[in-house]
Amino acid sequence: QTLSSRTLDGLAEYLKSGKASRIVVMTGAGISTSAGIPDFRSPETGLYANLARLNLPYAEAVFDIGYFKENPEPFYSLASEIYPGKFRPTITHSFIRLLNDKGLLLKLFTQNIDCLEREAGVPDDKIIEAHGSFARQSCIECKAAYPEDDIKSHIAAKTIPRCYECQGLVKPEIVFFGEQLPAAFLESRMVPMSSDLCIVMGTSLTVQPFASLPGATLPYTPRLLINKERVGNLGTGTDDVLLLEDCDSGVRKLAEACGWLEELEKLWAE
Ligand code: OAD
Repeated sequence: QTLSSRTLDGLAEYLKSGKASRIVVMTGAGISTSAGIPDFRSPETGLYANLARLNLPYAEAVFDIGYFKENPEPFYSLASEIYPGKFRPTITHSFIRLLNDKGLLLKLFTQNIDCLEREAGVPDDKIIEAHGSFARQSCIECKAAYPEDDIKSHIAAKTIPRCYECQGLVKPEIVFFGEQLPAAFLESRMVPMSSDLCIVMGTSLTVQPFASLPGATLPYTPRLLINKERVGNLGTGTDDVLLLEDCDSGVRKLAEACGWLEELEKLWAE
């Protein structure tokens, strides 16, 4: 066993001792719900439970590449609601930034497409956007890049952008079901093996291959889950610590136990 106890205090002791200096963080939509962005699968508030108006054959179709090719309207109708720019990072995002500022962050793997980690000040080279993001857009046929201002106008007007080269459909470079994950993800999926602490927050770990990442750590590497519910196989490892609660409150408790809370609140208020 690596931790003195499988508790928040045991973990804080490990962090304060300097033994955790290569931390891998894995996140999902639950870290952004307090920013006002719904997650996908929460039973009442999640996006998939609230898409009746789009008349989809099944909820995930809105992010399915095969469905999009036939019927891009539902995605573009939704895109105006979730397009980045109007949301502020949460204290959980700032906590990841704090880990980086302290020189402890090895990599952040995020499934989120809201770009809030970047906005909180986590540097680009530390972030693996496993499901892409709204940062770029291109033609799904000829792959030509498409201007940001033009897609923004289309999204605001709820109209469908078409490629200026070949008239193909244009799509933000978020990964749809049926598409390959970015090369950056595929190249770095072994990084968790060299970490000395794994923190999983705000994800149901239902979508592969991301869901396998926490299992890619070595058996004696401590793992912390901060999530409203237990997910994946977190809790079965010898050094797994579970905080089954709201991310923001869990992160505050951890920061407090490490003596970092004041610093964290200041960073978030910036
Ligand atoms: P989900 O909606 O599947 O899971 C969110 C998880 O966060 C659930 O376990 C919630 O209980 C938990 N949660 C929500 N709010 C929370 C809060 N404030 N504090 C703590 N926990 C909270 O979202 P993801 O796991 O991110 O993919 O979904 C994975 C992928 O499925 C997404 O990237 C997206 C989606 O289809 C694509 O579109 C390709």
